[in-house]
Amino acid sequence: MEINQRPYHLVVFGASGFTGQFVAEEVAREQVASGQSSSLPWAVAGRSREKLQRVLERAALKLGRPTLSSKVGIIICDVTNPASLDEMAKQAAIVLNCVGPYRFYGEPVVKACVENGTSCIDICGEPQTPLKH
Ligand SMILES: NC(=O)c1ccc[n+]([C@@H]2O[C@H](COP(=O)([O-])OP(=O)(O)OC[C@H]3O[C@@H](n4cnc5c(N)ncnc54)[C@H](OP(=O)(O)O)[C@@H]3O)[C@@H](O)[C@H]2O)c1
Repeated sequence: MEINQRPYHLVVFGASGFTGQFVAEEVAREQVASGQSSSLPWAVAGRSREKLQRVLERAALKLGRPTLSSKVGIIICDVTNPASLDEMAKQAAIVLNCVGPYRFYGEPVVKACVENGTSCIDICGEPQTPLKH
């Protein structure tokens, strides 16, 4: 599908994580600040619908925007399930990947994005310790 016809401009993958919840909250804050007219469709993704819903509910409370969770998509996706990664990547123009550690979980997400023509960014903060032989 053409990039500009995909359902979501941005998908925050791993929004239920310690860092991902702040990323999701910041995206929501930006959308509130920019106003409804210029807001872009976005979604959160992860392996637990309940956790993702809780993240959106907390952000809605913090931002005083009770309708937030009804306006943000939820995609169920697991790094260990390549088909679910493809499905997520196909629905987004950009995947913002917050699922770490990236040295264990990063590559399948990049692969799915490359194969589906989706931009992929992450928040990696992992100085890798060299292996000792
Ligand atoms: N650049 C920076 O300043 C900075 C700062 C902090 C962290 N980071 C990076 O962010 C990464 C994440 O850190 P964190 O502290 O937020 O970790 P975390 O709290 O453990 O969160 C990990 C996230 O990954 C998800 N996840 C784990 N396995 C998965 C799988 N098989 N499929 C789908 N989702 C899966 C978890 O989902 P569940 O909720 O379902 O378990 C959770 O949403 C780190 O590895 C680090 O590189 C960067």
